[in-house]
Amino acid sequence: RGRTMTAPVLKPDADAIKKAATCLLEGGLVAMPTETVYGLAGDATNPDAVARIYRVKERPVFNPLIAHVASIETAFGQGRFSEAARMLARHFWPGPLTLVVKATHTTTVCDLARAGLETLAIRVPAHPVARALLEATGRPLVAPSANPSGRISPTSAAHVAADLGTKLDFILDGGDCSEGLESTVIDARGEAPVLLRPGTISPNDINAIWPGLTRGGEAGAPISPGQLLRHYAPNARLRLNAAAPGPGEAYLGFGPGDATLNLSPSASLTEAAANLFSMLRKLDETHDRIAVAPIPEAGLGLAINDRLERAANRD
Ligand code: TXA
Ligand code: MG
Repeated sequence: RGRTMTAPVLKPDADAIKKAATCLLEGGLVAMPTETVYGLAGDATNPDAVARIYRVKERPVFNPLIAHVASIETAFGQGRFSEAARMLARHFWPGPLTLVVKATHTTTVCDLARAGLETLAIRVPAHPVARALLEATGRPLVAPSANPSGRISPTSAAHVAADLGTKLDFILDGGDCSEGLESTVIDARGEAPVLLRPGTISPNDINAIWPGLTRGGEAGAPISPGQLLRHYAPNARLRLNAAAPGPGEAYLGFGPGDATLNLSPSASLTEAAANLFSMLRKLDETHDRIAVAPIPEAGLGLAINDRLERAANRD
């Protein structure tokens, strides 16, 4: 179902939600805003819709997708949640946390969406438009970030339209994403939580509810594709921890001082996370090389630096 024109960008009123939900139930693809980034949503129970998502994103099929559901109880019905996993869920859902649990015979998320794994990654998003769409379809929706695989994730409807606009059916415009970074992914299957992808919910936040967090995926093959070494990548070459720009470089600043664009003049990590992807996109349009100011390696800075390192990697 290729288009030559960009898919309609809809203001997400009741009528648009209904249209989008009908489209999803028929196997279509809809870009939906979430609090983290925009997702390319499809019916998680429909392998044809899921296959189309992989194709549109040019995403390797061994890279599983996150299922989004409307409520905590629905999530608990989709997989095996330990008592500790339930505590994390109740504390952070709806919100930017994804839990990897063991799939069960009650899982309706199709095998292709889970890349054939015995596990399921699932979250309950907080964004009202995503929630309305989940309620209107009554289905779990898979929603990878709505960008071509390996590229910068979209934090506005305009980003989605520019990247994938001709390859999907509707774009729901929910404005700019409040978090700006993808959800924190936790492997919740064991005795202690394992961090697979840092996000705006920090290791300290997790440890406060379920102690003993370790960082996963350091050795061997990535089990979470957010762990791929080059990801979130602009075309421009990135130079990190730069105190100042060199000749010909754009400067992405943090904290007070001159910069081409500034992630947060007041050195707020929350503001920097929300601005990161859109500012990388802007500088990528006008520059071949981008120098990035140092970001403190603590709290939310861990997640920001994680994205920057993958974006900078050329190997
Ligand atoms: O914030 C988000 O999570 C966004 C919004 C749209 O909800 N979605 C998102 O999806 O970032 P995606 O597909 O770009 O990233 C999914 C991440 C990948 O790192 C993937 O490898 C991991 O979740 N993942 C999915 N299923 C998994 C599983 N069964 N085991 C381990 N990791 C899994
Ligand atoms: Mg992604």
